[in-house]
Amino acid sequence: MDEAGINEIYAFAIELARKAGRAIVDGSSRRFSSAAGFDHKKNTADLVTETDQAVEALVKREISTRFPDHAFIGEESWAAGEEHALDNQVTWIVDPIDGTTNFVHAFPYTCISIGVVINSVPTIGVVFAPFMDTMYQGCLGKGSFMSSPHHPAPRRLPLVDPTPLDDLRQALVAFEWGSDRRVEVLERKLDCFRKITGDPEGGIAGGKMVQGVRSVGSAALNFCHVASGNLDLYWEIGCWAWDVCAGVVIAQEAGAAVVGSKDHAERATKGDEFNVVTPAVLTGRKYTVIRAIDTDKAKNDQAQKHILNEFYQCITEWDP
Ligand code: IPD
Ligand code: CA
Repeated sequence: MDEAGINEIYAFAIELARKAGRAIVDGSSRRFSSAAGFDHKKNTADLVTETDQAVEALVKREISTRFPDHAFIGEESWAAGEEHALDNQVTWIVDPIDGTTNFVHAFPYTCISIGVVINSVPTIGVVFAPFMDTMYQGCLGKGSFMSSPHHPAPRRLPLVDPTPLDDLRQALVAFEWGSDRRVEVLERKLDCFRKITGDPEGGIAGGKMVQGVRSVGSAALNFCHVASGNLDLYWEIGCWAWDVCAGVVIAQEAGAAVVGSKDHAERATKGDEFNVVTPAVLTGRKYTVIRAIDTDKAKNDQAQKHILNEFYQCITEWDP
């Protein structure tokens, strides 16, 4: 696809995210004026509301009207049984509401996440958080940007020049509790949390004792915070391509690096394919993203690989 074609999709995606954002805010007002309910998907921690479905229908309709040849993968369409494999077709990967639990509780970390994959490469990413009126946007080769009420003109990401990160002990890290709370999952997850946070001199063998931990409840916004440089690293097993696709582009364009499973991270940090998000990685449901550490590409790669290797010493994976 030529540059004009990509620019057209990018501009449309930004406009669409703002429109979807208005629908999310309206949906929230309606919910709180009528005490609307929500449905559980697989358990009481996995929620869906009427607004998730209405926003996805809106976004899907607008895309198919403007770009009838493009494919669409969305969380709610997938939940309704529609499946589409990622191939060479231009594919929109959309989560109408990332952070549905936040949406239900009026915790403002809720966003629409719109990613576009072109020739199997995540190429366009738009994440809009309507309750904070904050837009993150990125396009392959063009950088990524954030705009908000405090800074209406888009600011390039990361927001400040990358600072050194020599050791996980200096890191602010995000991970999430997710909705899979089965014993075999939770025990592994808690063991990872323990190693990431624990004090090795205080009796936690293998503890990396990161500086702090955050769980904001939205994978897409975690990616955007790493892109911005205000989170150092985010790791999660269990989220989906629609939660991360837009965030991948925004993060990579800000000098951040994305890897998939522990296996993939090991191969990627040893070989030449570092920070290459193939369809297998994008749909692999295991993700780590680490912020830009240096403006020099070779030094940045090296520093990111060093922290990733240290981080993965804490991780014992499970199958989501
Ligand atoms: C979820 C959020 C959450 C993450 C889950 C996702 P949803 O998406 O991103 O932070 O922990 O893995 O599924 O259900 O709100 O769209
Ligand atoms: Ca969702």
